[in-house]
Amino acid sequence: MANNNNYVIETTDLTKRFGGLVAVNRVSMNVREGEIMGLIGPNGAGKTTLLNAIAGLNNATSGAVHLFGEETTTCSPEEMCHKGLSRTFQIPVPFPKLSVLDNVMVAAVFGHKKRLKDPVKHAREQLSFVEFELPEDTLSEQLNTVQLKRLDLARALASNPKVMLLDELASGLTERELEPLMKIIAKIRDKGITILMVEHIMQVIMGLCERLAVINFGNKIAEGPTKEVSQDPKVIEAYLGVEDED
Ligand SMILES: Nc1ncnc2c1ncn2[C@@H]1O[C@H](COP(=O)(O)OP(=O)(O)OP(=O)(O)O)[C@@H](O)[C@H]1O
Ligand SMILES: [Mg+2]
Repeated sequence: MANNNNYVIETTDLTKRFGGLVAVNRVSMNVREGEIMGLIGPNGAGKTTLLNAIAGLNNATSGAVHLFGEETTTCSPEEMCHKGLSRTFQIPVPFPKLSVLDNVMVAAVFGHKKRLKDPVKHAREQLSFVEFELPEDTLSEQLNTVQLKRLDLARALASNPKVMLLDELASGLTERELEPLMKIIAKIRDKGITILMVEHIMQVIMGLCERLAVINFGNKIAEGPTKEVSQDPKVIEAYLGVEDED
């Protein structure tokens, strides 16, 4: 397919089955260059599964994924990373016995096709960008939730991505921790990195996302500008159907 649009990510009829369960059902959506796009939906809707299929972690059962116009449906996470896509995880799992700096360095070294001139300097720059406040030799197993999230962001930035997938980066944070994290995400977008983020927290969605796609039971039920989508009766109903605040 020719890249005659400015879509950074495009999924076409993407379906992911786990045995008899259709976790994602024929979802077609796109993410445009330079935007922060939100992917929202109730618990178990298929958001992480869709991110994983885009990132190559759990390839689609059918349908297609294109990254910058190139078909990447069956690529591995390493291939996607080398093509400029990185991601954070709903539950970050750094190497617990490695220091914060070493964790970012591992991501930097494996995330680049070419040898980095100075991986230590590069890793330090990422930690500073995410405003990581503890000493760089702190072991990852000693980190609390917000520190783990910042480390995961630094790790994802270490491969110099053009596009990032963020999976519930703000979940588990206190009210006080949200605003600084939102500023960092905006700073990433301002660097020219396109972002697709799964998020539950309305303050974060409304504050950052230009557009939203909504999935419910694996089906896309809406896509469009944030304000429009958040007032769509179908979307409100999907959320009211499950009284689950997490
Ligand atoms: N590896 C797997 N094997 C089997 N079923 C899975 C697997 N991963 C996800 N599922 C199922 O697929 C469905 C979608 O899960 P998914 O984790 O994508 O939802 P989600 O929208 O990210 O939910 P949450 O908001 O709770 O993170 C769920 O029913 C889940 O149990
Ligand atoms: Mg999820």
